[in-house]
Amino acid sequence: MIEVSHLTKKFGNFTAVNDISFNVASGEMFALLGPNGAGKSTTIKMLTTLLKPSSGQLTLNGYDVVKQQDLTRKSFGIVFQDPSVDNDLTAFENMQLHAVMYGVSSKELKTRVKELMTLVELWDRKDSLVKTYSGGMKRRLEIARGLLHHPRVLFLDEPTLGLDTQTRNLLWNYVGNLAHEKKMTILFTTHYLEEAEANASRIAIIDHGKLLTIGTSEELMKQTKTQSLEEAYLYLTGKELRDEQADPHEVWRARQRSRTMR
Ligand SMILES: Nc1ncnc2c1ncn2[C@@H]1O[C@H](COP(=O)(O)OP(=O)(O)OP(=O)(O)O)[C@@H](O)[C@H]1O
Ligand SMILES: [Mg+2]
Repeated sequence: MIEVSHLTKKFGNFTAVNDISFNVASGEMFALLGPNGAGKSTTIKMLTTLLKPSSGQLTLNGYDVVKQQDLTRKSFGIVFQDPSVDNDLTAFENMQLHAVMYGVSSKELKTRVKELMTLVELWDRKDSLVKTYSGGMKRRLEIARGLLHHPRVLFLDEPTLGLDTQTRNLLWNYVGNLAHEKKMTILFTTHYLEEAEANASRIAIIDHGKLLTIGTSEELMKQTKTQSLEEAYLYLTGKELRDEQADPHEVWRARQRSRTMR
């Protein structure tokens, strides 16, 4: 369903993604793990037509991602790492806008919006302006929005960052059902290794733009002769910090702050 072949992205002299190749099967839940700045979001941006690869081949749902952008875009939903809902609209209006953009018919719109907003427990707050939502509520709204047009492939870039345990469980249950029952293909990133262990059939670890390994968590432990995914991950990526803000919660808080200031 997703084919990545020798994918490279350069920003000037800096290589953010360096000759990465992997495939994700239909209905698979696939995790992309790696330290801050590893190149995870850049890879997702290329797969979702937001960035053009410097070189390499990308296929999604049978479409060439670079040459068949419109067809590619109709095939996936995405939940961004940075909140992207419009604060000055109500939650319902955000959903409506997205539905129109993706050509969901007005007949389907009402039932689907209700179903998804009920699922993420926001239906009773549908008419509130998004700026009155908490961070977790915005995240849930984004997830509901990413599912509106019943995509074949769903990209989740750190979907659970800043969410409480209850909401995280709710999200993984729902996403797991989409993969198993609707054969939706899910590619996600997370810094919570237990989420990858519990939900991904296979895991790819990238660092400094390079793919270090790919396999089930058992295979990764075996390769590294370690006892847990966390040990395997640290064995492969080392223990030093990457960004000035390596704690994902701190990154989240900083983003929220800069957003409210804008
Ligand atoms: N538009 C850009 N211009 C220049 N450099 C960029 C750009 N976008 C990303 N980078 C750099 O590419 C590298 C990979 O960034 P990316 O956002 O893909 O990391 P990530 O794996 O998603 O990290 P995180 O876990 O912190 O989200 C980083 O060093 C980043 O600074
Ligand atoms: Mg990222």
